[in-house]
Amino acid sequence: MAELDHWHPVLFADELGKKPAPVRVCDRELVVFRASNGQATLGALADVCPHRGMRLSEGRVEGGRLVCPYHGWSFAPDGEGKSPATPAARPCADAFEVVERYGLIWIKRRGVDAAFPALDVSGYHFIGKTRHRAEAPLEVTLDNFIEVEHTPEVHALLGYPRERMAEVTCEVTSTERSVRVYNEGPQKALPRPLYSLLQIETGDSFVDDWTTWFSPVYTVYDQYWFDPATGQRRPNALRIAIFFVPVTAGQTDIFALSYALAAPWERYGLNAFAYLLTRAFVVMELRRDVTLLGKLADKSPELRGRTLSRFDKPLGLARKRIESIYRGRG
Ligand code: FES
Ligand SMILES: [Fe+2]
Repeated sequence: MAELDHWHPVLFADELGKKPAPVRVCDRELVVFRASNGQATLGALADVCPHRGMRLSEGRVEGGRLVCPYHGWSFAPDGEGKSPATPAARPCADAFEVVERYGLIWIKRRGVDAAFPALDVSGYHFIGKTRHRAEAPLEVTLDNFIEVEHTPEVHALLGYPRERMAEVTCEVTSTERSVRVYNEGPQKALPRPLYSLLQIETGDSFVDDWTTWFSPVYTVYDQYWFDPATGQRRPNALRIAIFFVPVTAGQTDIFALSYALAAPWERYGLNAFAYLLTRAFVVMELRRDVTLLGKLADKSPELRGRTLSRFDKPLGLARKRIESIYRGRG
């Protein structure tokens, strides 16, 4: 399976303590563990002992090795195994590459080249990370995140107002490796405090400009506002990176990392609070997407036979790149 040839986030780094953690990614069951404290070495192995099939995630870490709870064989982060009862044996567990970055644990198959996903957040303040599980296949989950036509129906705050949806522009451009969508239109009406939080005015135009990449499958959103009378940009902007991680054929985990350009309530010393609120806003909107995805009657990724809109052009472009780049077919 070529999917695991790409770097996928599988856990929040702060969820992984002394105990090994089972994770499921691309329909593979793996165990992730910290082999030592301090300058921690991470390990990721197939979650099945090569001896008699015990789940290694039920084991414990001792002396930098993951110990199987059945017969005590132990494994180094690179999969090198030892059997206490048969020292001459050289068992080997299936090992994966694993790193900790952006507060997440990432894994990929060993021995294949894949660039770590580029995420430029210089100048931005980290707001928070969040994870959600969509009960839908990868393509169908991504579809929801690469069109804005659903924002009036599905979202409380993010996006465009129902009655002015026809004014929203949608420019789609693509390269072999990426699909970019630029949307511009009137910002939906918001509760008053949010104008202050986002540092925007009523009547502002909202831009949602994103690019989707396919190793792994992820989208980086730039969201900002401007005064439609002058074209002047507001000081704040959000940059949100969302990674789409297939768990099984019908489930997709969504890992979102959110950043803001301006510290909105700096002069009041309330930035931490502003970030909490912004994060809550992102979490709420992602939950709405995920809940909706769970209710789809037809979760087939097949697009043929569907009646598509002017906002749906990126769906087909993304399908092609998922096949060729992510799944390595054709
Ligand atoms: S099953 Fe793991 S040591 Fe026997
Ligand atoms: Fe959405």
